[in-house]
Amino acid sequence: MEVVMRKRSLLLLTASTVVFLGLFFFSSSRNPRANAQSANNALNANSPGCPCPTPTVEPAKIPEVITLGQDAKLGQITFNHVKHNGGAYNIVQGQKIACISCHHTAQPNSEVVKNPPLKTSWPADRTTTLTQELFDKDPKAAGVAACRECHAREGMTPKLIPAIPEIKHESSTVMIKMTNMTAFHRACTSCHAEVRKTNPLSKGPIQTQCTMCHKKAA
Ligand code: HEC
Ligand code: HEC
Ligand code: HEC
Ligand code: HEC
Repeated sequence: MEVVMRKRSLLLLTASTVVFLGLFFFSSSRNPRANAQSANNALNANSPGCPCPTPTVEPAKIPEVITLGQDAKLGQITFNHVKHNGGAYNIVQGQKIACISCHHTAQPNSEVVKNPPLKTSWPADRTTTLTQELFDKDPKAAGVAACRECHAREGMTPKLIPAIPEIKHESSTVMIKMTNMTAFHRACTSCHAEVRKTNPLSKGPIQTQCTMCHKKAA
């Protein structure tokens, strides 16, 4: 899993670098700082003090902080989306975490299948990869679905697919059911474990640190 994560992260980093450089060279200004600034603005259209022209469409908001697991007995989880996708948190210094490292179905199928066990895109025939830019351009067409619309709680039927997904266990033939619990735990803690390897003091909770994520409502 960690190898898969790392491979995927590398791919994603490469992809986001390409997007970033594309934006960088697209800009015609001679001032390199202004170039970097406008590339930044394009990626993060709702940053304060943006000197760019007023967008024709008001950029749709990505939630900044999300309360997950409101029905979890162990307590709900406060997930800081903006820190996870805005660059404050990263695996490689200075590189934002790509949207698709979490929103794994939001890319064309030809890309998805490069990272087994992943094989599903949503919508199935999509040709775009989720980025901040794509989302700002047209939030509906960006095709973001909440994890639980596929990774339903045990015993529930997901909204977008016929059944709760299953993947094969890395080291055996056993199938693991990706409920909300297993999907979130894998997605969240595999990255935090990876981060700990280079930063042992990292505050990203690993799998055994249940109550660093799950907090009883006061
Ligand atoms: C990295 C943060 C994190 C850690 C660490 C973590 N969890 Fe979770 N847990 C989550 C998230 C996120 C969900 C999914 C919430 C949702 O569906 O909205 C979840 C879901 C669950 C659920 C299912 C809740 C339900 O009924 O839908 C259980 C049970 C659970 N966790 C127990 C644990 C236990 C026990 C541990 C420690 C061994 C643990 N978790 C560690 C983040 C975490
Ligand atoms: C570290 C993981 C992670 C990254 C990176 C990430 N997201 Fe998310 N995002 C989530 C989680 C978790 C949710 C909550 C989903 C849920 O409620 O099931 C979410 C929710 C959303 C939602 C709301 C969806 C809904 O229907 O409730 C949007 C929109 C969104 N993200 C867009 C983005 C975009 C655009 C990027 C990249 C710029 C991005 N996300 C990067 C994990 C991430
Ligand atoms: C449109 C449906 C859909 C959505 C939305 C979705 N998933 Fe998945 N997920 C799947 C399917 C199906 C699989 C099984 C592998 C496959 O078919 O790609 C899977 C597999 C996974 C896996 C196991 C893969 C691995 O490498 O360990 C994790 C972890 C996961 N999803 C987390 C998430 C998280 C977190 C979100 C939200 C940010 C999310 N998924 C959103 C359908 C979805
Ligand atoms: C691709 C990597 C990655 C993924 C995926 C990821 N995180 Fe993190 N997370 C980080 C990093 C990096 C930090 C910051 C660690 C530090 O600087 O100490 C962090 C910190 C945290 C923290 C502690 C600080 C805070 O904001 O409260 C929590 C809680 C957390 N993550 C929850 C989650 C949950 C829940 C998920 C899954 C929905 C998740 N993370 C997915 C990389 C990731």
